[in-house]
Order: sequence, then C-alpha cells, then structure tokens
Amino acid sequence: VTALLLWGVIGYLLGSIPFGLLLTRAMGLGNLREIGSGNIGTTNVLRTGSKAAAALTLFLDGGKGAAAVLAARFLAGEDAAQLAGLMAFVGHCFPVWLGFKGGKGVATFLGLMLALAWPVGIACCLTWLSAAALSRISSMGALVSALSSTLWAVAFGHGSVILLTILLTVFVIWRHSANIKRLMSGTEPKIGQK
Ligand code: G3P
Repeated sequence: VTALLLWGVIGYLLGSIPFGLLLTRAMGLGNLREIGSGNIGTTNVLRTGSKAAAALTLFLDGGKGAAAVLAARFLAGEDAAQLAGLMAFVGHCFPVWLGFKGGKGVATFLGLMLALAWPVGIACCLTWLSAAALSRISSMGALVSALSSTLWAVAFGHGSVILLTILLTVFVIWRHSANIKRLMSGTEPKIGQK
C-alpha cells in the first residue's frame, strides 16, 4: 500500500507540471490565461499562433502521463501503473502549483492510455483525430474520444482498464463543462480560432 501511495504521489507530481504554461512563457508567446479559453493545454497553446509550442505541449503533456505509467509499471507493477496514470491526469487537471486550476487532461489521458494499453490508446487517438477532423473542434474530439475509450477497452479485451476509462471519461466530460455549453449554443471555436 505504501508503494502504491508513493506512485500516486509521483504520478500527481509529474502530471502537475504545466508544460503549456511554462513553454508559452519561455517562448515569449504571452500569458495563456489571457488567451482564448485561458486553458493550459495544447488547443489553447495553438491559439498563440505557435504550432511548434502546441506540438511540444501535446508531446510533453502526453509524455508525462505515459512516463508515470511506464515508470510505475517497471518498478512496482500494473496496479501502481494504473494509479500513477490516473494521478498524472489528476495532477494535470488540479496542479497544486496553480492553485489547483489546471487543464482538461486530454493529452495526458491519451498518453497514459497509450502506455497502459496501447491498442486502446491508439484507438482513442484515432477517434480524437476523426472527430476533430470532422467537426474542426478540439473539444469535440476530446469528448468523443473519452466516451469511446471504454468501448475500445472492451473491444480489445483490456478488461483491467475498463474502470479507469469510465473514471477518466467522467472527469474529461466534467472538465469540459464550459466547452459543452459552448458546443450546445454553437459558439465553440474551431481549431486554431481564438
Ligand atoms: O484539450 C482541451 C480541449 O478539448 C479544449 O480546449 O482551450 O478549447 O477549452 P479549449
């Protein structure tokens, strides 16, 4: 139990690194909080106009989820890997460094799923890409991808991650409540739009 708790804390700390915020600040792209949705994730980093910063944010926010899972799995096994992945997601959404006001967890969700059960992760990424390509809206990609994750876990026989996919889906939907309101009123911006 102590080892599990430790991996939960390590996952949280990894996840709580706000790469989008740090990168845009370091690259002199302005204050993310005052741009677009004010969110710290890839979609909002793209609104600064820098595709490089957005790509790097996606890679690092996804990478921290994957890193938490892989390190925990290597050193402490599968349960620790699941907990570390979940806590990396929680860390991204509620980072202590930002007064618990973090992101929406989509990149971290995709990264941790890729590391935990890669067929499920790849299916979630492809679902994100398809839904985002069709709608041109990032949050639509995120919501459809999260909602599909449990289906993919069942379809690919990854029963051990089903509970986690349900939990993460609920979280992702909750974190997107402002986006859902905008989607319903038809005011959600397309990818790249402010
Ligand atoms: O990954 C976050 C995305 O789904 C929505 O971002 O900035 O449009 O709220 P944003």
